[in-house]
Amino acid sequence: MISSGSACYTAPMNSVRAGSIVILDSGGQYAHLIGNRVRRLGAFSEIRIAETKAEDLRGAAGIILSGGPQSVYEEGSPQPDPAIFELGIPVLGICYGHQWVAHALGGAVKPGKIKEYGHADLNIVTPESVLFRGLPLRFGVWMSHGDEVADLPPGFSTLASSDTCTIAAMGDEERRIFGVQFHLEVTHTQHGMEILKRFVDLCEPAPWSMEGFAKRIGQEIAQTVGDRRVFMLVSGGVDSSVAFTLLNDVLGVDRVQGLLVDTGLMRKNEVRNIRQAFDRLGITNLQIADASEEFFRNLKGIYDPEEKRRIIGQTFLDVQKRVSEEMGLGMVGSPSAGSGQTSQSDVWMLGQGTIYPDTIETKGTKHADHIKTHHNRVAAIQAMIEKGLVIEPLKDLYKDEVRALGEELGLPSDFVWRHPFPGPGLGVRILCAQELSLPKEIGTVDLPHLVLPVRSVGVQGDGRTYRHAVALFGEHPSEVPHAYRAMATTIPNAIPAFNRVLFCSSHTAPPPLIFTPGYLTRERADLLREADAVVDEELRRADLYSVIWQFPVVLLPFGTKEGGESIVLRPVESQEAMTASAAPLPPALLRRITDRLLALPGIDMVFLDLTSKPPATIEWE
Ligand code: XMP
Repeated sequence: MISSGSACYTAPMNSVRAGSIVILDSGGQYAHLIGNRVRRLGAFSEIRIAETKAEDLRGAAGIILSGGPQSVYEEGSPQPDPAIFELGIPVLGICYGHQWVAHALGGAVKPGKIKEYGHADLNIVTPESVLFRGLPLRFGVWMSHGDEVADLPPGFSTLASSDTCTIAAMGDEERRIFGVQFHLEVTHTQHGMEILKRFVDLCEPAPWSMEGFAKRIGQEIAQTVGDRRVFMLVSGGVDSSVAFTLLNDVLGVDRVQGLLVDTGLMRKNEVRNIRQAFDRLGITNLQIADASEEFFRNLKGIYDPEEKRRIIGQTFLDVQKRVSEEMGLGMVGSPSAGSGQTSQSDVWMLGQGTIYPDTIETKGTKHADHIKTHHNRVAAIQAMIEKGLVIEPLKDLYKDEVRALGEELGLPSDFVWRHPFPGPGLGVRILCAQELSLPKEIGTVDLPHLVLPVRSVGVQGDGRTYRHAVALFGEHPSEVPHAYRAMATTIPNAIPAFNRVLFCSSHTAPPPLIFTPGYLTRERADLLREADAVVDEELRRADLYSVIWQFPVVLLPFGTKEGGESIVLRPVESQEAMTASAAPLPPALLRRITDRLLALPGIDMVFLDLTSKPPATIEWE
């Protein structure tokens, strides 16, 4: 049972909590991730908007300026208060933050010769800098930027350079003001946590722990819900399961009711498995409703990814409303049907397992760009949020923190460590297209390749892209040539038409393609469900389930025969889904999976997605 406590990391008042490291959010995809990293280092952190007044930051131990999708010269771009430099506390700018520090203190920023997205090699120029002391002189970092610092501000020196970016890190050691162009907060930057730790140590911040954090969430739930009750849609994924368990734990079974909607877009045997898992936990207040007909009916003839997401989110809500009425709960947000008097205890709130990345990618913070609308951020839910009718106990957490919290609550670790599965389920993994689409201009790709006739969502420099994928072919279809992995970064950087690079594991040369218009149907969902089950089974058999973080399997509406379809395998390594790299698959496993998929009726081709995030996203839509 989680009891009340006092560990807070967002202060309700204007001034920040004394001793916290404040992240000023310029809308970068990683702003909260920096908060996560600072907490992992055992330090208290708070996120504030970029323009927070310097006087409200008095008492902070340090300031980190996040990245952001804009250019410092752009009208309306985030402009922190320059008086932060007078506070006498350490300041670290990351990406946009780094550029803004240069801009604000008299340096110059201009568009880089080459836009860098993904891996870059960093060379340390000033090894005695407090940030880099004792680290190797060259290591890999993660970049995602178009602009760069061209001239240092007075008093600063260059601390590190990359091959294409001369001022990749800068510092004024005396004033303890630093800037790094690379994202030290993502796991793909080597030594990133060490660099951050050095900065955090300079700040001498107040301490933070997960146990205290869990206590704070418990207290917050109790306060927010008051006398009301909570109705919650449970998808069976890690986030909604942890949120549901937490609500049960804090409020008790009588004040919580769960509903699992079978959308027809779930994985094979998913519903049965979820029911069993909760039964084992003694959580029985979970109703199951089969609404698959309604979902397929509403999605008929829909091709656009954002429209699909919106419809899936809306259908979830419609079903929830109908079923909750059938269950006699009344409308969520209104007093229970049938009760003559209206008291607070008759009102049901809506519980959601939203975690932080869901918010940020739906443009959840002031300066963030819109990447994808997560199902729990559609307009109808936003309206309920504004009325204070939604409780999202995990909304500030990253996946790794949700899992740690799940374990803290006593959930079994096999349950907590299952691969993440998106709320819209297979719906975002079945690509729909009404007509064949090809880019106008692709430049030169000097290898046997195929431009796929469909587009997918990506993220570059904190902005959304919707572009084509290019598939490369090799002599041995189960062995990805080493050079192709590097091309998965260089091709999207150099050719704007592409945001993904694939390797074809079923063919050695591009065959003629046949495109078949397709939307979301039960038949396609059934086919993908089988394909997904094959991959899941092979992954567990190869003992790689826990090594690979997530493994979406995607269905594409083209093949080599009339009505044929193709499959994309998308194994990724990640920690918190904000960045990811393509996970390598042993050739024997890739061959076995490919052979088994080609044996499914209707599957003509198989591809392996080699792209990291950025420039792609993990899911295709
Ligand atoms: P992307 O594709 O944005 O995915 O790189 C990041 C992580 O989020 C999951 N995801 C979702 N989860 N509702 C969810 O609950 C959604 O609408 C949604 N879209 C993506 C995705 O599976 C990955 O783990």
